[in-house]
Amino acid sequence: MSDFDKTELSADEWDELTFPRPAENDFDRVVERAISRRGFLGGVLTFGSGAAAMGAGLISAAPAPALAGGARFPFTPIPARTDGTVHVPEGYSWQVVARWGDPLFSDADLYDVTDGGPVAKSDRVFGENTDGMESFSYRGHQLIAVNHEFANRKVNLPAAQGGTPADAGDVRKLQNLQGVTVMEIAQGLTGWAVVKDSPFNRRIHHNTPIRVVGPAAGHPLLRTEADPTGTLVLGTINNCGSGRTPWGTYLTCEENFNSYFGMTVPAEPAAEKPAEGTAAVAAEPARPTPEQARYGIGPEDWGYDYYKWDARFDVSTTPNEPNRFGWVVEIDPADPNAIPVKHTGLGRFKHENAEVTLAADGRVVVYMGDDERGEFLYKFVSNGIYAPGAPTGGLLDDGTLYAARFNDDQTGEWLPLTPGTTGMDLPGICIHTRIAASAVGATTMDRPEWVSINPFAGEVYCSLTNNKNRGVKPNAGGDATPVNGPNPRETNRYGQIVRWRPRGGDHAAERFDWDLYVMAGNPTVYQDSYAGSANINAGNLFNSPDGMALDSSGMVWIQTDGKDSNAGDFAGMGNNQMLAGDPVSGEIVRFLTGPKGCEVTGLTWSGDRRTMFVGIQHPGGSWPDGSGLPRSSLIAIRRRDNGLVG
Ligand code: FEO
Ligand code: CA
Ligand code: CA
Repeated sequence: MSDFDKTELSADEWDELTFPRPAENDFDRVVERAISRRGFLGGVLTFGSGAAAMGAGLISAAPAPALAGGARFPFTPIPARTDGTVHVPEGYSWQVVARWGDPLFSDADLYDVTDGGPVAKSDRVFGENTDGMESFSYRGHQLIAVNHEFANRKVNLPAAQGGTPADAGDVRKLQNLQGVTVMEIAQGLTGWAVVKDSPFNRRIHHNTPIRVVGPAAGHPLLRTEADPTGTLVLGTINNCGSGRTPWGTYLTCEENFNSYFGMTVPAEPAAEKPAEGTAAVAAEPARPTPEQARYGIGPEDWGYDYYKWDARFDVSTTPNEPNRFGWVVEIDPADPNAIPVKHTGLGRFKHENAEVTLAADGRVVVYMGDDERGEFLYKFVSNGIYAPGAPTGGLLDDGTLYAARFNDDQTGEWLPLTPGTTGMDLPGICIHTRIAASAVGATTMDRPEWVSINPFAGEVYCSLTNNKNRGVKPNAGGDATPVNGPNPRETNRYGQIVRWRPRGGDHAAERFDWDLYVMAGNPTVYQDSYAGSANINAGNLFNSPDGMALDSSGMVWIQTDGKDSNAGDFAGMGNNQMLAGDPVSGEIVRFLTGPKGCEVTGLTWSGDRRTMFVGIQHPGGSWPDGSGLPRSSLIAIRRRDNGLVG
């Protein structure tokens, strides 16, 4: 791991290097599935080439009134761009609301262009690498909760260190700049701005105390020397996508949590171990258990070096600490003193986001993706019923987890993860959810990213961002990943969006019907399935759909986190972007382009729906202010005529 720069690797690339997957060896199975795929793909591509007719036929509920006229976008689509700033359509404007390092409190030092700012105040500023977010209107205050997914070590530490922490203070700074910001924002003469010193302003970071609840709370696998109860964790990490509950709380989702853990006692191949009884025997090498390996916990981290300076991240001495991450965390944005809560009932995996809705009878349903190649799509259905004003305890923990199985005939079922179906006990299912889903034969997916529900049609969308291992290698648990219904392309480099409709329009239903809303591709380069579905054309090229939200009119907003080379397979796609899609006609048009190098992620709206908030993560250059360092930022987009934007 030392002959390359880990800061240049994405989390999934790093995972591959840390735990290389064996090449697929079940060739018969792959070939068999590939044959059935040919017949199936015809169906999908028919959807593409007849998007309007097929799309209408597959949507059972009446379209939203706002969409009754078919495709209509209240803006002129914009072209792809390759430059260093943000573009939005004519008639819209954008402004920066908060940048990495902006003070949330007046006692925080101003951003320092050399390395962001001092350690001592790093938990008093807007964190780095904005991701999922949700806005909340509370007693006349506009609050916004924003995730900070990871830290760019090279820009946050003195340049001479090349991104490597030199002491515990460096580690503390990285820990402080990630997690979640809850803050109040307000509109003034110059637009939206942070309300400095608002009593709602709060940073939740890698050392913030967080309660653990649900079936796995207190389980021996969650206990550590520092927390023998297994119920009080320090921190929430790698906060990726978001969600919101019907009772007004924020959900932040822990994704690539494994990348923060390492082992000071290195693992060694068994063959190189000194023979027992020889003088050379030192400490017993630490080895990942099969369960740790399934989650990518190994000897080396992504380069944060926490484990060298903060013992709880050293798996060789604190083996249970990684079990305390990989959860969905609930935060009350209206109460800055409320201790956040980790819900073990929602399972442990690389959580992307958590899309919450209600079943027909009022039970709480949460849809969740596990973003890793060949991992699964989940839902949780509570036992209890949500009633406004009634206690909500247990609604995100007492219930049943399911993993999705997609059949090639465009039907599917939710497979319950129970002791009876998995052979695991309930806490075990919660802690090692991936293993439980493998046991029931769930469908391996092309990296499930955001899940979002159409509020009008009772249908659910999930971005499957890409998967170069599809049809090539098994997932981390050894499950084969041949092409299958919603993941129909080998070495999938462009991604697709699958959607499903629960039977009877009830999100608690165990069966559903699905189709592909779009298969991204490049018809200027390919004539086969890599051309994409027919709603892809030279005017809306993109790859790697990721962030996604359906707005109050039922419009599908798609954000991308893909290759922005604008060359070869990706020619004509430009920088990462945000597009809008009509769920009925399938038409997709480009709304926003980000600065070179960035990912566009995170989307929410002001209470009056006249402002759209969008996150620009890991921009290149020195966007947005030319200060010399790239500053991940939250931006606000409005119509110049003050009209609604979603
Ligand atoms: Fe943090 Fe899968 O995106
Ligand atoms: Ca994402
Ligand atoms: Ca992504």
